[in-house]
Amino acid sequence: MPEHVPVLKNEVAELLNITEEGIFFDGTVGLGGHSAAILNANSANYLYGTDKDSEALEIAGKNLELFQGRFTLFHSDFRNMKDLLLPMDIAKIDGFLFDLGVSSFQLDNPGKGFSYAQDAPLDMRMDKNQTLSAFDVVNDYTHEQLTDIFKRYGELGNPAKIVDQVVFHRKAKKIETTGELKTIIRRVAPQQKTMDPLARVFQAVRIEVNRELAGLEDFFGDLFNMMKPGARVVVISFHSLEDRIVKTALKRARENGIMNILTPKPVTAAENELRMNPRSRSAKLRAAESESREEREGARRKVK
Ligand SMILES: C[S@@+](CC[C@H](N)C(=O)[O-])C[C@H]1O[C@@H](n2cnc3c(N)ncnc32)[C@H](O)[C@@H]1O
Repeated sequence: MPEHVPVLKNEVAELLNITEEGIFFDGTVGLGGHSAAILNANSANYLYGTDKDSEALEIAGKNLELFQGRFTLFHSDFRNMKDLLLPMDIAKIDGFLFDLGVSSFQLDNPGKGFSYAQDAPLDMRMDKNQTLSAFDVVNDYTHEQLTDIFKRYGELGNPAKIVDQVVFHRKAKKIETTGELKTIIRRVAPQQKTMDPLARVFQAVRIEVNRELAGLEDFFGDLFNMMKPGARVVVISFHSLEDRIVKTALKRARENGIMNILTPKPVTAAENELRMNPRSRSAKLRAAESESREEREGARRKVK
């Protein structure tokens, strides 16, 4: 397999302070590109990682073989982080990374049914153990439910025509593949240059299937509690809905005096990365640092 170069690799390395010895948590291990960089940066670094996709984790395990004994991977949603780490007596972490969304490995794999670029069974589950799939959403959700998710997660202003078409077609025959869904949508929503309606519908179904935004904001509460003073968190998001949640959570933590924001504006990919990896064009990175012990003690002294 060619070397897997993760998105914004250098920017993550710098903002996560990976050359300084620490315990790191990679919530979205994928094929282990960022995890490998973390383990490679300092031989004393230890990494805990999660991913919902067991196939990706298996490959990551192999890609990280060189670092045997210095990492633990869990097939889990990162939102279970506290429940996974506390029983292992890991209460505080030096650096957290979340490279959200789907990977190229998932998008390019027809068996996973994420993409309309190849015709494949409608699936879109990151975690094959869960029952809800894209097939269920497209065929079983009511007109009202589909309208709601296309508006909320696809940010489609008026999805009525698309929903009508989906509901009309599935009455005669269940919609089974990404290709069938694409043909149905294209009948009423011609291709557009910016954020094509087809891409928006697929994004909405994917977010719904994987519950990508559910509880994300609350999760940041757990995370801030698990940060050592001076610890860093880096989050890369690929769509505005996710980025808005991250931005709001970090802003609120800054207002509450527990975090310093390191990226007043989100960091995006540089020209050369955009050329090598067109998918990096929608990546937005935000980073923050928990208040250091000195800052916290200084603030307390001022209050006294
Ligand atoms: C953009 S990829 C990460 C790529 C990774 N940084 C690398 O270097 O290979 C996102 C990964 O996060 C996983 N994922 C998305 N949401 C998750 C969640 N809530 N919990 C655990 N894994 C998640 C996906 O299955 C996918 O493998």
